[in-house]
Amino acid sequence: MNAPTMQGLNINAPAYVKNARLLAWVADMVALCKPNNIVWCDGSQEEYDRLCQQLVDAGTFKKLNPAKRADSFLACSDPSDVARVEDRTYICSAQKEDAGPTNNWMEPTAMRATLQPLFDGCMKGRTMYVVPFSMGPLGSHIAHIGVELTDSAYVAVNQKLMTRMGKAVYDVLGVDGEFVPCMHTVGAPLAEGQKDTTSWPCNPTVKYIVHYPETREIWSYGSGYGGNALLGKKCLALRIASNMGRDQGWLAEHMLILGVTNPQGKKYHIAAAFPSACGKTNFSMLVPPAGFDGWKVTTIGDDIAWIKPNADGKMYAINPEAGYFGVAPGTNTLTNPNCMASLDKNVIFTNVALTDDGDVWWEGMEKDAGKLPEHLIDWQGKDWTPAIAKETGAKAAHPNARFTVAATNNPALDSAWDDPAGVPIDAFIFGGRRSTTVPLVTEARTWMEGVYMAATMGSETTAAAFGAQGVVRRDPFAMLPFCGYNMSDYFQHWLNMEHKLESQGHTLPKIFCVNWFRKDEAGKFVWPGYGENMRVLKWMLDRIEGQAQGQDTMFGVAPQYAEITWTGLEFSPEQFNTVTSIDKAAWAEEFKSHDVHFELLSHHMPKELIDTKNALEQRLAAL
Ligand code: GTP
Ligand code: SPV
Ligand code: MN
Repeated sequence: MNAPTMQGLNINAPAYVKNARLLAWVADMVALCKPNNIVWCDGSQEEYDRLCQQLVDAGTFKKLNPAKRADSFLACSDPSDVARVEDRTYICSAQKEDAGPTNNWMEPTAMRATLQPLFDGCMKGRTMYVVPFSMGPLGSHIAHIGVELTDSAYVAVNQKLMTRMGKAVYDVLGVDGEFVPCMHTVGAPLAEGQKDTTSWPCNPTVKYIVHYPETREIWSYGSGYGGNALLGKKCLALRIASNMGRDQGWLAEHMLILGVTNPQGKKYHIAAAFPSACGKTNFSMLVPPAGFDGWKVTTIGDDIAWIKPNADGKMYAINPEAGYFGVAPGTNTLTNPNCMASLDKNVIFTNVALTDDGDVWWEGMEKDAGKLPEHLIDWQGKDWTPAIAKETGAKAAHPNARFTVAATNNPALDSAWDDPAGVPIDAFIFGGRRSTTVPLVTEARTWMEGVYMAATMGSETTAAAFGAQGVVRRDPFAMLPFCGYNMSDYFQHWLNMEHKLESQGHTLPKIFCVNWFRKDEAGKFVWPGYGENMRVLKWMLDRIEGQAQGQDTMFGVAPQYAEITWTGLEFSPEQFNTVTSIDKAAWAEEFKSHDVHFELLSHHMPKELIDTKNALEQRLAAL
């Protein structure tokens, strides 16, 4: 199928590809990018194995010891290419106001003129992979199709694990079905006859992650990493899909989806938005702790939810993805046993450390072993020993090191995870990483108050994106880097859901706000987190069932100490107070930063949110 050269522009499409727009687009992109070869990915295991072997031969992948980690690989990226690049990410809507103040914007014609010379010949000396994928169960009325053209085999194999990728997508697409065109290049063309000597090709200086919301296109240049390059994920499933959702009346959210079944067999579904590296994967795979016999938590999704109101008046959610691109550091059998079990075989690791016996290691794994390893090769290929780490502070794994694994590896996978109809959502949770101020859990008294909490959510920045870490920034709905249109219009879209569903006589999901990350004076997390978060989840279900009275606070309804099930955990009322108290002075400051935030978002800011803020401030003043 590979053409020796692409000069004749024979794109060599397999006979089963019949979509006219797709064929024309691929021909145009071949003419523009000038790859040496084209490979139409069929998604087969044979193809995956072949591409992985090719990546091993190129030095991008190291095959791990099969006795330790069967059929698994380690890739270490260029040190300049380890996270999403928010300052290089653009929403190029026709009007600047439609991108809003939280997105980088360039006028579409100007951006096209900027990208044209960069994409011209960008794949010289490389192979173009045509990667067809479905975001969501194939054929689901909530799903959408994308096709990514990429010169990275690493992207192609990751997409195989992360999405429903392959031949079957063309059947759904048919002759005239719609798809989102996703252009991706590492931006490192080779000169005539030049051999690629880099194991992680990328462009260390020029990067563009560009979205055209009106024409639903994605153009990504210069990075081979995660959300910059696996274009089905943040680019399509959030930035482009949020635009589709606004136009079509549904929601595309940075949310995990879990099922929770009580000992009586009653099942609930929860969707929760936490910013990047703030606990979604962990929460979605939660193992109930001691004292919760008979409870079960199952995973539908760990990062993204597409949610549509249904004829029965409930909001139904699907996970558009089919795999997890999760944070490795901090993961171990104590914090997330389901995740560790998922990583036994068929995994691609990126930027973790290599052990002397050909296995992987990252910070946090010492909790399982009871000790640090004596020697490792760190993610940058350097020797690592506990002594070196102590002296230099060097991390063996990059703090944003990740694993890529198919959802089917997860022992806690929900039986409905692939259901085209989705699952009905009973509650939404929003939570940031805040060492102070925000209490462990509160329930919004109204939909409006819930939207307010989500819209003003703050979180300390993490390694998931380039930039300073640990700085509180407003991250509304955990969507700051992912909302593909004006944020205030997005708030309005959420508010409209209430009018829409209630006018049809339906009950909306409850909205809760959580914070697992309050610290004590010594800088230690007070709340044990992870599996223990089940205690908070159960209180929420009790609230849904009308079985917990709670107590009214300035910031919504909070649990009374006695309403939390404490069996199996020593957690005193004093400790509880440390994670739930509302500090009047800190909240006065917090509201000031809400002011700054609302000022920034003043264009189309829903007036009801400002009224809500005033009402909350009055409650605070009355304390
Ligand atoms: P993205 O994939 O970037 O969207 O991240 P995520 O939201 O899925 O976060 P993830 O579950 O991977 O957790 C990120 C980091 O937070 C890891 O190092 C976890 O160990 C840590 N973490 C997760 N849950 C908790 C918790 O309840 N308490 C504490 N203290 N840390 C947590
Ligand atoms: C995130 O940063 O929220 C991630 C990782 O889930 S990435 O795919 O890089 O967006
Ligand atoms: Mn994420």
